Amino acid sequence: MSDNKKLQEWVKEVAAMCQPERVMWCDGSDAEYESILHLMVQAGTAQWLDDKKRPNSIFVRSSPADVARVEEFTFICSRSRDDAGPTNNWREPEEMKAALKGLFTGCMKGRTMYVIPYSMGPIGSHISKIGVEISDSPYVVANMRIMSRVGTRVLDVLGPDGEFVRGIHSVGAPLADNQADSPWPCNEKTKYISHFPETREIWSYGSGYGGNALLGKKCHALRIASVQARDEGWMAEHMLILGITNPKGKKIYVAAAFPSACGKTNLAMLTPTLPGWKVETVGDDIAWMKFNADGRLHAINPEYGFFGVAPGTSVKSNPNAMLTIQKNSIFTNCAITPEGDVWWEEMTDTAPPALTDWLRRPWAPGAGRKAAHPNARFTTPASQCPVIAPEWEDPNGVPISAILFGGRRATVVPLVNQALSWQHGTFLGSVMSSETTAAAAGAVGALRYDPFAMLPFCGYHMGDYFAHWLKIGSQSDASRLPGIFYVNWFRKNADGKFLWPGYGENSRVLKWVFERIEGTAGAVETAIGNLPAPGSLDLTGLDMPEKDLAELLRVDVEGWTRELPLLKKHFEKFGTRLPKGLLEELSALEARLAGEKVGA
Ligand code: OXD
Ligand code: MN
Repeated sequence: MSDNKKLQEWVKEVAAMCQPERVMWCDGSDAEYESILHLMVQAGTAQWLDDKKRPNSIFVRSSPADVARVEEFTFICSRSRDDAGPTNNWREPEEMKAALKGLFTGCMKGRTMYVIPYSMGPIGSHISKIGVEISDSPYVVANMRIMSRVGTRVLDVLGPDGEFVRGIHSVGAPLADNQADSPWPCNEKTKYISHFPETREIWSYGSGYGGNALLGKKCHALRIASVQARDEGWMAEHMLILGITNPKGKKIYVAAAFPSACGKTNLAMLTPTLPGWKVETVGDDIAWMKFNADGRLHAINPEYGFFGVAPGTSVKSNPNAMLTIQKNSIFTNCAITPEGDVWWEEMTDTAPPALTDWLRRPWAPGAGRKAAHPNARFTTPASQCPVIAPEWEDPNGVPISAILFGGRRATVVPLVNQALSWQHGTFLGSVMSSETTAAAAGAVGALRYDPFAMLPFCGYHMGDYFAHWLKIGSQSDASRLPGIFYVNWFRKNADGKFLWPGYGENSRVLKWVFERIEGTAGAVETAIGNLPAPGSLDLTGLDMPEKDLAELLRVDVEGWTRELPLLKKHFEKFGTRLPKGLLEELSALEARLAGEKVGA
């Protein structure tokens, strides 16, 4: 229980509306976590993994109707439609509340209502924020305990008058007397992930999966926090944070934005192939950045764990993630081996001969379908990561020297490109584009603009968000601001093969970034930005044909020129709220490309 009157009253109100069988305040203790896992096993939601192979870990299968974030049912309910902007679904707040109240009335019948106080960020840090999630899902309670700092210690910091973000979550499946529960209760027909940025509220109905249900993550730490950040002069970004140390022991911090399932977790935990270089993880998905007294942006990772995409994760692609998930983890929608361990596509070079797939069906290699769902996930404590940076919980955050943007682009976009200025970097972020992945429901592989990787996560008008970036840039002198870079590991040759080996070899690009920040690596200024000068990208020991390197770093003037009309169309969406500075950058790019053509 809390001595915070507003919290007590709100919990009473929500209980009266949802009519649960009982209310339980989560204290965040080990014993509580244990009993929640046992409860899920008893209910058939989870099964224990083999205790020798994965101690204290469970495996969960969701309903096939509930496997990813549902962007089409995600709403920003600001008073004015214009404040939600063209990239968000909008509903008038009173109307949405009325509809939601209808759905939430009696929605927890027969279930326990859990009250989960959580801190996004180290407890008590001046950059952290407190939220309380009310949920009827034990799976949410267990996952929230890994993904955020939860329990009584948060209430102690909240105190009697502290402010908090209110999150109400229900799987939308009330139980009548004598009705048997299903292993993964959810509402197959109706889902609403609704945000009320002005009143700092989240109402989530119908889904128990990931970002739809773990409200501290996308809903709070990005959608609501982006609005708080705009109002209070800081930044809430869809970015990993890493520390990189050179062989002389000099360390800098880099934040990087990539769309969902484009390898943020792999980059955050990278094992450099370059001798003497070291990468350490601060966070793999979200960064909150604030100016320190020194005029530099300092970042914290508001999360406490990793909710990573499992398929594709292997000893080759991410050995540190494989070590992190050895124990105390939750696996969702993977396949399961006869020995009681998990498996997913690409975890091993050859698939085990027999599995039970995520749909509970027998599976063998050649089955013609995936054994794990493409958006299968692991939830695992960040503290277990072998390369977690010792300072990852520093309440003052870490000073950011460079920001990377990137996406999956088979063509046009080069391996690495340094922005000419903060404004040009903001432009590069605003035109980020990527081929879509399975992290959200919908088609995979289509090209979409995903500015700053925030398309599904910005809680207000994207044009105003661009303006906020420009404003941040005007608040410190250029020498203290992070350098901005655009990277693309996914460029392919004419035969459809990746040109860049990726994974640990990405340390070569990080080294170039590091040395650009230090002022020791050369660059050539081109129409699209600063590209590595010949010889400045360290390729020692990499057997890369000259022509592949040339292609990776080629300024594809034709390709960029073809994209200009698409960029203009993309910008038109933001109407009068598109900042002038970005239009200037677009015209400048057009002029530089035209110059190249004349020169050619
Ligand atoms: C995530 C996502 O889960 O971006 O991190 O979808
Ligand atoms: Mn993400």
